[in-house]
Amino acid sequence: MTDFPDTAPDRIVDTIGRPEDNADSGIRPVSLDDFTGQKDVRENLSIFIQAARKRGDAMDHTLFYGPPGLGKTTLAQIVARELGVSFRATSGPVIAKAGDLAALLTNLQPRDVLFIDEIHRLNPAVEEILYPAMEDFQLDLIIGEGPAARSVRIDLPPFTLVGATTRAGLITTPLRERFGIPLHMNFYTEDELTFIVSRGAGILGLEMSEDGAREVARRSRGTPRVANRLLRRVRDFAIVGDAEMVDAKLADAALLRLDVDARGLDKMDRKYLNCMAEHYGGGPVGVETLAAALANERDVLEEVVEPFLIQQGMVHRTPRGRMLTPQGWNYIGLQPPAEIAAQMDLLSKAEKLDD
Ligand SMILES: Nc1ncnc2c1ncn2[C@@H]1O[C@H](COP(=O)(O)OP(=O)(O)OP(=O)(O)O)[C@@H](O)[C@H]1O
Ligand SMILES: [Mg+2]
Repeated sequence: MTDFPDTAPDRIVDTIGRPEDNADSGIRPVSLDDFTGQKDVRENLSIFIQAARKRGDAMDHTLFYGPPGLGKTTLAQIVARELGVSFRATSGPVIAKAGDLAALLTNLQPRDVLFIDEIHRLNPAVEEILYPAMEDFQLDLIIGEGPAARSVRIDLPPFTLVGATTRAGLITTPLRERFGIPLHMNFYTEDELTFIVSRGAGILGLEMSEDGAREVARRSRGTPRVANRLLRRVRDFAIVGDAEMVDAKLADAALLRLDVDARGLDKMDRKYLNCMAEHYGGGPVGVETLAAALANERDVLEEVVEPFLIQQGMVHRTPRGRMLTPQGWNYIGLQPPAEIAAQMDLLSKAEKLDD
């Protein structure tokens, strides 16, 4: 979970986690079989977990990367559980000194999982210590100061480091290369989210029709965290309205009241798209400029707002800045200027620009 300044505290489709997200226990899947979606990731993990168990050895170090709320932390916990080992969790910014990391590592039992969330935010001095720990299960520590300082080497039990990050691009190359198993998390499909919402409704004891679940799924920005959150709000509407069964109509009415439109976009998204169209002719415009114009943090735009708009094909990330695509223009009900349409056409032909 990333700690951003609270720029939009009421944003229900925010993909960043909140304390109330895990209020109802039992929603978080606890086994690979229980976990919907991310088929490739699941299949790979299943093989590596079985192999590690057969070898009686620690599983290779694993890195989960992808947008917030897709299940990185959930999968890390599942890995430990299925390996039958303990799960220790910490996060990059929390490990201030080399000694903090040393304390964590020396307390591990053989084959344990150490989970480091937001691993792109590790202090460089700590990261240095992590390299030999990951590679050779050895810890090189400097004890004392000045001329009396000496270095000691401590053997560690073999362990599995599971890292998670929303910003793979910010991980240093030496760190990235030490993960034997890098796994990319993708946005979920509507069908997968429909299944997740139905399952969640079952756990919450809420009667919900298939099309009711689909209505929630469609607005969830491809993100289970958002799906579960919307589900809880829809449940509130159902309880207050004494509805026996949540169908598409009830779900739709509830979600419109919460200002989440049929594609899962809210006020913040529309502000972003409109700002690009009205003030910058649809771009290209730099993310810093946009952040200033929207009085928002650059990180929030890059990590929370843009991934979904890019995935929906409304915004394009180019070397010269963000551009509104014809779909983006279309969504806000405006016509793209002719030269933008032509430029976009060229762009999509010339490259499949990835991040
Ligand atoms: N495949 C899934 N099926 C059902 N629920 C899921 C699934 N994946 C995630 N969730 C739910 O979504 C929420 C967010 O998941 P999780 O905390 O694992 O995301 P994350 O990727 O670690 O997010 P962040 O980047 O913010 O740390 C959890 O409450 C979890 O229960
Ligand atoms: Mg997480």
